Amino acid sequence: MENTFEKDILEGLKAKNKYLSSKYFYDDNGSRIFQEIMQMPEYYLTDSEFEILSLQAKQIVEALEFEQPFNIIELGAGDGFKTFKLLEYLVNKDIPFNYVPIDISQEAITLLSEKLKERLPKLSIQPKVGDYFEILRETSEHKTPSLLLFLGSNIGNYSEEKARKLLRLFNDNMNINDKLLIGIDLKKNPIIIHNAYYDKAGVTKRFNLNLLIRINRELGADFKIDDFDFYCHYNPINGEVKSYIVSLKAQTVYIKDLNTSIGFKQNELIWTELSKKYTLSEIEDLSEQTNFSINKHFLDCKHYFTDSLWEKLA
Ligand code: AVJ
Repeated sequence: MENTFEKDILEGLKAKNKYLSSKYFYDDNGSRIFQEIMQMPEYYLTDSEFEILSLQAKQIVEALEFEQPFNIIELGAGDGFKTFKLLEYLVNKDIPFNYVPIDISQEAITLLSEKLKERLPKLSIQPKVGDYFEILRETSEHKTPSLLLFLGSNIGNYSEEKARKLLRLFNDNMNINDKLLIGIDLKKNPIIIHNAYYDKAGVTKRFNLNLLIRINRELGADFKIDDFDFYCHYNPINGEVKSYIVSLKAQTVYIKDLNTSIGFKQNELIWTELSKKYTLSEIEDLSEQTNFSINKHFLDCKHYFTDSLWEKLA
């Protein structure tokens, strides 16, 4: 793990067009800042998905058509705040199931488990920390029907090509008739999207710059955080929000553990994140290309967001 981090950081900062992967945002600090983002009024994604899972839990569960006890495997559970309503519905209805939240942050998983044990004492829960592909491979070995949850529009962090690869990988690690409930942010008025990522309070800026703080701490680098800024841009044609760190001056950063210096020109960018938005018809194309059929789209009342229920085809 540590090694891949070093390799990826070096590769991204040495590239002609510098980039760093948004998956490295989520150290314990980054996960905490992301909680703050989810609480911002401008970041509608969380509220929309919370509404869907609160108001339509019954319809979602009925659409599963699972008879036996089943697993709910959540990829990138985070604080599990959105999922709570779905879990609560199932527990209150005495529907037998086992909840397997997976996240790369130990702190996030510990907090989630403690909160759930307190608020839903009857819930059967098996939290796991680590890379979700490995865990998915293990859990698909037994025959219990599974509902995979990939919520929060995490799929938006992948280019369409990489999203297809990821979804095929999910598909390969599922059994026939297993379901995937995937949260996807929809194309909408561009101003609403812009404001969700370019927030006035600068929380998203802190989220991005935290990656430089992480590199300072974990790789002995000397990024001067005040000499960098944040910029992002939504392109309503292709649905892509792209986020960047901007070097405010010509400067050189030394990374001790990599024994490397990185030069920055004034206004040079480090691309940090893609947050892609889709239309329902683009989502349907994506499912067809990855061996799924779509059972139903569950939308919030503003039609900002969908939790779409996919089924693995034979
Ligand atoms: C957790 C990947 C869905 O892209 O909207 C929030 C992360 N980045 N604000 C997103 C994020 C900036 C988020 N995802």
